[in-house]
Amino acid sequence: MIKVFVIILVATGLLATQPVSAGPERDLQAMQDFYQKRFPNVAPEEFANGLYAFDEGAREQWLELEDFPPYEIAVEEGEGYFNTPFANGNSYADCFENNGLSIKQNYPYFDSDTSKVVTLELAINQCREENGEQPLPYLRGELTAISAYMAYTSRGNTINVQVPNDNPKALAAYEAGKQFYYSRRGQLNFACSSCHVQVVGLSLRADPISTTVGQVTHFPAYRTVWGEIVTLHRRFVECNAQVRARPFESQSDEYRNLEYFLTYMSNGFELNGPSSRR
Ligand code: HEC
Repeated sequence: MIKVFVIILVATGLLATQPVSAGPERDLQAMQDFYQKRFPNVAPEEFANGLYAFDEGAREQWLELEDFPPYEIAVEEGEGYFNTPFANGNSYADCFENNGLSIKQNYPYFDSDTSKVVTLELAINQCREENGEQPLPYLRGELTAISAYMAYTSRGNTINVQVPNDNPKALAAYEAGKQFYYSRRGQLNFACSSCHVQVVGLSLRADPISTTVGQVTHFPAYRTVWGEIVTLHRRFVECNAQVRARPFESQSDEYRNLEYFLTYMSNGFELNGPSSRR
């Protein structure tokens, strides 16, 4: 199947495509226009549902699954962890605005003190460390459950990632994330965009490939194939490994910048996480 992809990509000459730098707002507009032309019959807000936006059969199975959401346990566990005070008596609520509820739409953000992108998962661990607790592992378990609970309390809020005009370092982080998205890597020499832009909608191992816009609205996501709930960076690892590239560490600068760019591409979408994917 991968071979077919390579043939399609080479035949259409699209592998050489690189975006010009036009600024975040124009990037977003261009990306939205592209998908609207590519899928004229799909309502734009449907892209928040990933591959289920354009695969009827898979969508039905998904809606059935959502009747008894497999991520519900994680949300409940996450709520429990979230409300359990640290040894010093403080709790997660003390670290965040609005007591940590209904705030996911503001993440990731560019922190001008450290000149780095801060994701929600990173902020959860920062909160722990500020309160004398050990950081939690990023890939699964307690931290993912807390993130799932925080996402759940933010459902329906509109993603609104900012790249402040007056901070060239924020723009540089965004551009680095964008560069990552369009850079080919791995033995198969694919960029994220090779699949999610150029052959979007085509099927790879039975999964039609989802659009860049709306792609991050629903994380963390429970994946049936893994039988557990995973963070967005875990998905990045999988997509990197798929093209036989060496994945980066969860919460590395590379993935944080990538999340910054990718979440900006979902600006205007409502959060609908956590969710389930097959
Ligand atoms: C070889 C093709 C391919 C490449 C390259 C690729 N992906 Fe994917 N990606 C997929 C497939 C197939 C899926 C599963 C179907 C879907 O949800 O799009 C997927 C799923 C995803 C999802 C989850 C979508 C959802 O609705 O849950 C995200 C996020 C994602 N990819 C991001 C990336 C990023 C970022 C990169 C670059 C690091 C990348 N992908 C590179 C094929 C690819």
